[in-house]
Amino acid sequence: MPPNSALSENDRILVRVWIDQGAKNTVCTPPPNTGGTTGGTTGGGSTGLKSDAVCFQRDILPILLSSCGTTGCHNQASAREGYVTVSYASVMANMVNPGSPNSSRLYTVVANNNMPPSSYAKLTQASKDSIYNWIKNGALNSVCTSNCDTLTTVTYANQISTLMSLNCVSCHSGSSAQKGIMLDTYANVKTYLDNGKLLSAVKGTSIQMPPGYKITSCELRQLDLWKANGGKQN
Ligand code: HEC
Repeated sequence: MPPNSALSENDRILVRVWIDQGAKNTVCTPPPNTGGTTGGTTGGGSTGLKSDAVCFQRDILPILLSSCGTTGCHNQASAREGYVTVSYASVMANMVNPGSPNSSRLYTVVANNNMPPSSYAKLTQASKDSIYNWIKNGALNSVCTSNCDTLTTVTYANQISTLMSLNCVSCHSGSSAQKGIMLDTYANVKTYLDNGKLLSAVKGTSIQMPPGYKITSCELRQLDLWKANGGKQN
């Protein structure tokens, strides 16, 4: 269906992803630059911010979960040195002094590269800057409508490489890459796209990657669309 005029592959993926996610009667909030109203479904006390602002749920939490709040480090069970970085409440408990990044442990330890420890990838300057700006602006539990865009062509350069750096590269690069799996270059990502392991891991059908949380449904769709278009180095 429809007879003799099949839906485009993109439309079929769209329908499948919607059903996969529970076929909800979802209403999407307007993009952030059309009025600045909040678009969040997670967390309490969310604050709508302009699109260039740093938002905790979109910009900070993924960094904390992938680079700090992991098993053996700062997840709930391990809580090394008493620090837990898996939620807004846990980082606010003892690591953040709102308005003052330089007296916030969360910022100072990543700024001087004490954390993550030597065998792990350091945070990128962009991630450090995001943490700085987020604390400077009051360390709110802010939620922004995602910048995630699936209407224009998904490219490796624009969306996929960013998605990988924010969610995967901290554990999948360098000499301590988990299972020797590298996801830091196009060629490496393409290998795991082609053998099916990347998509099954982010969808949680084999194991769940990143461990402990799922990338957003929009990011999943970007990966599906990028693959459907041949996973090009575009
Ligand atoms: C906190 C560290 C961490 C992060 C972040 C992370 N991974 Fe992993 N990844 C692991 C570990 C550990 C394993 C090995 C798990 C095992 O074999 O039990 C693994 C294994 C994998 C595998 C192999 C799965 C298989 O079927 O053999 C793939 C593919 C993978 N990760 C992709 C990703 C992708 C894509 C992301 C980002 C969306 C990501 N990982 C983020 C730690 C991480």
